[in-house]
Amino acid sequence: MLALYRKYRPKNLSDILGQEIIVEILRNAAKTDKLAHAYLFYGPRGSGKTTTARLVAKIANCEKRQKDEKFKISGEPCNGCRSCRETDEGRALDVIEIDAASNRGIDEIRNLKEGIRVSPALSRYKIYIIDEVHQLTKDAFNALLKTLEEPPAHAIFVLATTEYEKMPATIVSRTQRFHFKRLPLVKIIEKLKTISAAEKIKADDDALELIAASAEGSLRDAESLLDQIFGLEEKITLESVENIIGRVGFKKTSQMAELLFNNDLQKALSHLAKINEEGYNLVQFNKDLIHYLRRVLALKFSSALESEFKKELIEAELQAVKKHSQMLGSPADEQKTVNLIKSLIRAYTEMRYSPFVIVPLEVAIIENLKK
Ligand SMILES: Nc1ncnc2c1ncn2[C@@H]1O[C@H](COP(=O)(O)OP(=O)(O)O)[C@@H](O)[C@H]1O
Ligand SMILES: [Mg+2]
Ligand SMILES: [Zn+2]
Repeated sequence: MLALYRKYRPKNLSDILGQEIIVEILRNAAKTDKLAHAYLFYGPRGSGKTTTARLVAKIANCEKRQKDEKFKISGEPCNGCRSCRETDEGRALDVIEIDAASNRGIDEIRNLKEGIRVSPALSRYKIYIIDEVHQLTKDAFNALLKTLEEPPAHAIFVLATTEYEKMPATIVSRTQRFHFKRLPLVKIIEKLKTISAAEKIKADDDALELIAASAEGSLRDAESLLDQIFGLEEKITLESVENIIGRVGFKKTSQMAELLFNNDLQKALSHLAKINEEGYNLVQFNKDLIHYLRRVLALKFSSALESEFKKELIEAELQAVKKHSQMLGSPADEQKTVNLIKSLIRAYTEMRYSPFVIVPLEVAIIENLKK
């Protein structure tokens, strides 16, 4: 069975989520046949860099686009012609994918230097997609730079990397650069829902929401996790996701926050003990709690943040954060929350090296809540 993340790889620019500006620029370039000779796609993993690189390759060589002016103005590949199909299947002769991470690209760049002057075999362009390009050796970078200085008219480079800072400025300055953003939570949830519907996967909304949240902006991670859990469970529930990934959904975090704000030391400790007994990752729980409290506090001082949080949180969680933010009535409450966050951050560092993971967290809570 084809992995979900491959099956649901976008086939058109319009399927790319969360990268609106990039899509817009590429679509305009496609309409007017003005693709650049070198692109640099950078940003976090699972945000669509490789997918978009292949779309550029399809657009450049799509046979229907070349024959059909009317179709061309859609700015998309046709996905039906020989070239589009071969590119999708990864067997297009004129689309050369190089993974710089595998052997740092020494042989590949040498081959590239030799092959690049030769015209494409069957298509208009030769497209070189170099993934994790920051991993190239110094020699390979130098060779690449030479070709980027004078690329033949038939060559298009798409360089992709998660580590922009490691790219030599000389290379960067010869490319058109696109920053791929971490995907907002809502977009990830949206796509998981679409996939679940199409695949007839039975899944509760809060379960998909936790899968999406745990992917931290990477659609690929979210899709892989859905795939993995789908194989194990008939129906995907919040509980099953919590158990499999060892991370609690936002409700348990929000409940803890509520107990802390209410100064209910006894219940807070029981809540923590329960989460521990159930085998959840407490380091992750503390991290979630810190983020939660930080949002509550920040929202108190800047209501404008709400629109930011909308991208990171589901509606129910946002409402909970807002409610708790309104509970901070006095400067003393605010200071208490500041102290609490500071203690939790200290506990976080200690927990990671402590053989008794629960202890630093417990102590932090006691310290802050005891009368
Ligand atoms: N922006 C996006 N829109 C839609 N799907 C995406 C997006 N980014 C990633 N995906 C999904 O994740 C998979 C992997 O994405 P990929 O392009 O390989 O990410 P990257 O190269 O940035 O690590 C894709 O096949 C697709 O299913
Ligand atoms: Mg990639
Ligand atoms: Zn085509």
